[in-house]
Amino acid sequence: MTLLAFETSCDETGAAVVRNGVILSNVIASQIALHADYGGVVPELAAREHLRNLPIVAHAAMEQAHVPAAQMDALAATRGPGLPTALLVGFKAAQSLAFALRKPFIGIHHHEAHLYSPWIRGNPPTAVFEDFQPNVSLVVSGGHTLLVRVDSEFRHRVLGSTLDDAAGECFDKTGKLLGLPYPAGPQIARLAAQGNPNAFDFPRPLIHDAADDFSFSGLKTSVRYLLRDHPRLAEDRQIIRDLCASIQAAIVDVLVAKTIRAAKRCGVRCVTASGGVACNRALRRELERACDREAFVLRLAPNDLCADNAAMIGLLAERKIPAEAIPPPPARDIAPGWELTQSPALNSNGINRAAS
Ligand code: KG4
Ligand code: ZN
Repeated sequence: MTLLAFETSCDETGAAVVRNGVILSNVIASQIALHADYGGVVPELAAREHLRNLPIVAHAAMEQAHVPAAQMDALAATRGPGLPTALLVGFKAAQSLAFALRKPFIGIHHHEAHLYSPWIRGNPPTAVFEDFQPNVSLVVSGGHTLLVRVDSEFRHRVLGSTLDDAAGECFDKTGKLLGLPYPAGPQIARLAAQGNPNAFDFPRPLIHDAADDFSFSGLKTSVRYLLRDHPRLAEDRQIIRDLCASIQAAIVDVLVAKTIRAAKRCGVRCVTASGGVACNRALRRELERACDREAFVLRLAPNDLCADNAAMIGLLAERKIPAEAIPPPPARDIAPGWELTQSPALNSNGINRAAS
């Protein structure tokens, strides 16, 4: 099967062509520069930028894959969760194309797609499920922090999520307090490499809590109060590096401890991680160390597929379409607040089988 997928849930405009588990092309237009002036994503601007970029990105994806639209067997797009106006652009474009080409169309859950990106490997990047095993999956980005138990393909249960800020949001907001440009996560990681992670003892919220939920706003507040009480700290370049290293260490400690504890409690022997924050080298290293200690298998999404992309949407869609055989559904719509739930009574579009 050859499938064209779009991803426009937030601030990346993505288009990808996948064929039988292989990523033939994966094109992303980032809007980071556009939103940087505002210190965060502006939904209306994101939607307009998707409108401008999607035709270009889609064309490039088909050209790189050497597959014209008429040869697609199916179309897919992120259906939710995400920014409503942003989701609409990619979802309606793929749906309309499917309608025009008389091909199947499927709307994909963004977080569910993240769950399987750690199973992509090789060159060309290919989804490999032969050695799939039940796992606890950490999905960490600017918009979400989730711990999910994945029992088998399409069977998963959310164990915990963030009660306030997502892990990436914590990187971005504490970085902003330090005067770093948006998104600050990669900048903090870069500066942290030359800093002392033990220089400042920031809180590790909920690290010992029995529940699998996260909370990062207390850590952000602690950085804010430190800088309020000692405004000159951020003037010293080495102290900024130490602050970055200490903030990163606090976030990584919480993410790793809670992921490993959830895996132990669930009795699985495998941990996976994806999402933009999973690019963080300290997080990847500490997950590796912890998994080695526990003799767990660790699967990390490839660096270039951690952040939002259409390839992960396409790969999941390709595996779902044969099972669901969905005809183009003109009335189906986006689901901005779609929860990651799994119920045998619902098909992948969240529509009751009996009703669809
Ligand atoms: O998955 P993503 O591209 O978009 C969504 O938020 O859905 O993730 C972006 C987030 C931002 O918060 C960014 O600061 C963070 O991932 N990020 C990082 C790193 N690279 C990206 N955070 C820490 N270290 C990094 N190396
Ligand atoms: Zn995401």
